[in-house]
Amino acid sequence: MRPIFILNGPNLNLLGLRQPEIYGRETLADVEARCATLAAELGHSIDFRQSNHEGAIVEMIHAARDAGAGIIINPAAYTHTSVAILDALNAFDGPVIEVHISNVHKRESFRHHSYVSLRADAVIAGCGTEGYLLALRRIASILAG
Ligand code: DQA
Repeated sequence: MRPIFILNGPNLNLLGLRQPEIYGRETLADVEARCATLAAELGHSIDFRQSNHEGAIVEMIHAARDAGAGIIINPAAYTHTSVAILDALNAFDGPVIEVHISNVHKRESFRHHSYVSLRADAVIAGCGTEGYLLALRRIASILAG
């Protein structure tokens, strides 16, 4: 079975250190470990990646096109700006779930619009890092048909 790609955008490498009142104290490595454990329980594996660069994220989505069963993506600030990430996701055939740790709709108005939501099959926001686990359960159930 192909892995589920879990892709993270800019500044998420600072998770746990950056604005913990908004994003919590867990690190991205903690999130990766929890996702790997749950994925194994669900009979899947993950390919977990992060980049601060838009083009690198586009290339990660291309890699998922070749090798991924589905994509869970937190594009971070690129959510609100990136047509390139939307276009890359539109070239991917499997399920796509968009995750935001914070409730973007409760925050500044520039965070209310998402290019990625035009492609995402589901959007999870405001559930903290648990959103990644909820997305994994959902993508596993979509893949199970
Ligand atoms: C975020 C929300 C974005 O608006 C922000 O730019 C981020 C993280 C979230 O997970 O809540 O960097 O995607």
